[in-house]
Amino acid sequence: MRLTSKVLDEEQAAFLVRQRVARLATADGEGRPYAVPVCFALAQASVYIALDEKPKGVPASRLKRVRNILENPDVALIADRYAEDWSLLAFVMVRGRAELLEPDSGEHAAAVRLLRGKYHQYEAMRIEDNPVIAIRAEKATSWGTLEELEASGRQMLDTIRGRRSVRRYLQKRVPGDIVERVLEAARWAPSPHGRQPWRFAVLTREETKEHLADAMGEEWRANLEMDGQRAEIVEKRLEGSRRRLLDAPVLVLICLYLEDLDTYPDAERQSGETTMAIQSLGTAAQNALLAAYDLGLDAGWMCAPLFCPEKVVEALGLDARLVPHALLTLGYAEGDPPKRRPRMPLHELVVYRD
Ligand SMILES: Cc1cc2nc3c(=O)[nH]c(=O)nc-3n(C[C@H](O)[C@H](O)[C@H](O)COP(=O)(O)O)c2cc1C
Repeated sequence: MRLTSKVLDEEQAAFLVRQRVARLATADGEGRPYAVPVCFALAQASVYIALDEKPKGVPASRLKRVRNILENPDVALIADRYAEDWSLLAFVMVRGRAELLEPDSGEHAAAVRLLRGKYHQYEAMRIEDNPVIAIRAEKATSWGTLEELEASGRQMLDTIRGRRSVRRYLQKRVPGDIVERVLEAARWAPSPHGRQPWRFAVLTREETKEHLADAMGEEWRANLEMDGQRAEIVEKRLEGSRRRLLDAPVLVLICLYLEDLDTYPDAERQSGETTMAIQSLGTAAQNALLAAYDLGLDAGWMCAPLFCPEKVVEALGLDARLVPHALLTLGYAEGDPPKRRPRMPLHELVVYRD
């Protein structure tokens, strides 16, 4: 298994990845303890913490946590969940050695990308100019109910901003009732005339996923070869796509279903009707993505079925009236995703015409 070199088990890693804040404990050369709340990102067996611009009154290099790490690299980091229902209490503690990554290293750049991907607030801060704390986890301990049992109670906008595309998952099973709740969210999407022009196929079995990967791979190979791509590039891309399909614990195929829509005598209005159905499919997908994130899962979007709909229908033995459009991968993220696309600022996206 790729994750965390056996230091953190899958439950612990999944719990940690979902937490927005943790407490970092350091100690000075004489063992005097010191603890601060920190934002952090996790990748493999390392936890990264930025030294950011929040007002702290001293330059980053003079921060007590930094001086402590330089005197004594042994640290502990704890992330916990508190709830009045004490059956939900939980924590994960990581102990290890901390080091400071200087801005000129590749790992520093990767850590900054991770942190920006997790916290949009860092996009507007020059965290790349300061060292990043890297904790090399040596031991992890945990207690309580690590599963995210209920919706987290996050604010809606935090859920919207927090959702991210995940392309690598833990091999941790997703309970069927959670998948059903994701689909329930999709069911409530807006749709033209309320006709719900979409259907979902859920795939969890290895053989089914393999069958789908084979069918789509064949078509994609033909397309890439037609585009004149080099053989090794074709193989690499096919392998990456196949890995994504097989690694994701759950796949949800979203299909367009046009049969219940209005029909018109003219092509223009008919095409508008189809466009509305596709717009609606996008809203169903987004409902599913947001619900998944809110329920403690992560998700990704693969457009591949759009380019070989008949092959997908055939491979999965679906109703021929379904038009596969999107494949959502669902599972527990292996770590914070390495790349998160930044967003254009609002003023470039909006005009006001008062
Ligand atoms: C219609 C659509 C198709 C997409 N297709 C793919 C895809 O085939 N492969 C992929 O890795 N991501 C795909 N994505 C995900 C985007 O790359 C991703 O949403 C974007 O980079 C923003 O990153 P974020 O989702 O982490 O915020 C797709 C997203 C949409 C809306």
